[in-house]
Amino acid sequence: MSAPLSLGNLGVRFGAAAAVDGVSLDLVRGEIFGIVGESGSGKSTLANAAMGLLPAAATVSGSISINGREVVGLGDDALRQMRGNEAAMIFQDPSASLDPTWPVGDQIAETIRAHRPVGAREAKARAIALMAEVGIPEPAARYNDVPHHFSGGQRQRIVIAAALANNPQLLIADEPTTALDVTIQAQVLQLIDRLRRDHGTTVLLITHDLGVVSMVCDRVGVMYGGKLLEIGETQDLIARPTHAYTRALLAANPASSPRGTRLPVIPAEWSVESLEAAELSARTEAAHG
Ligand SMILES: Nc1ncnc2c1ncn2[C@@H]1O[C@H](COP(=O)(O)OP(=O)(O)O)[C@@H](O)[C@H]1O
Ligand SMILES: [Mg+2]
Repeated sequence: MSAPLSLGNLGVRFGAAAAVDGVSLDLVRGEIFGIVGESGSGKSTLANAAMGLLPAAATVSGSISINGREVVGLGDDALRQMRGNEAAMIFQDPSASLDPTWPVGDQIAETIRAHRPVGAREAKARAIALMAEVGIPEPAARYNDVPHHFSGGQRQRIVIAAALANNPQLLIADEPTTALDVTIQAQVLQLIDRLRRDHGTTVLLITHDLGVVSMVCDRVGVMYGGKLLEIGETQDLIARPTHAYTRALLAANPASSPRGTRLPVIPAEWSVESLEAAELSARTEAAHG
């Protein structure tokens, strides 16, 4: 079976600048794959490229396939059909995904009816069931409430319900818990984990936070300067990072207490090359006593 998401030497440029630079990656069905990297490393650009959501200024090279179908070059209608149906995306700020003036239940029901020929009553029943599944108490009574009647964590749950409305095989979550406090963050991550177990959804989880990665990701890729430096099973990568940059991240985030820790901002003058050079000279010094 083809991979839920496969990237082949993906490049995304904005003018002369490469935001994503030669990324190749195959997701395994049913896994949560984390992409971790500091701000500006190209994580959102990669995610948006996969969903066909890049601005017109972006130039894409290489290939992106979802369930074996090439996405690069697809027209707007085909992309719209793909989004929500085969792949769905959630963002850091749930309010940006919800219409503030519209009952949340109707927004979920509308997502269903955009892709399925179902009647209003059936869509409403399914929306209420989805609200229950993501942990909104008394979902039937809350169906007609507008977004500001919910807490930030509940709003993100509602966005997740809408994203899952049509059983997409791939869910891309770009910093889905960054705006939430630590306790709520853990609950939303547990929800994502439970949903992928129940539905077999493959999840690409983007974060700058190694604590998030260690909580739910099966595998992780470390991104820096548009490149995927290193990919591994989460526990292996934390225990035995092979790349100097990954070691620098981990050194600043003790693996013994990764929860809630954040990636340090690596100073701009710390290029990957300079990190490797510094490591090499430290090793050489150690070798020569
Ligand atoms: N619409 C855009 N136009 C120009 N440059 C962009 C645009 N979006 C992102 N970039 C650039 O691409 C790089 C990666 O950004 P982004 O993917 O948002 O990183 P991350 O999500 O890891 O913080 C940055 O240098 C950013 O300035
Ligand atoms: Mg981002």
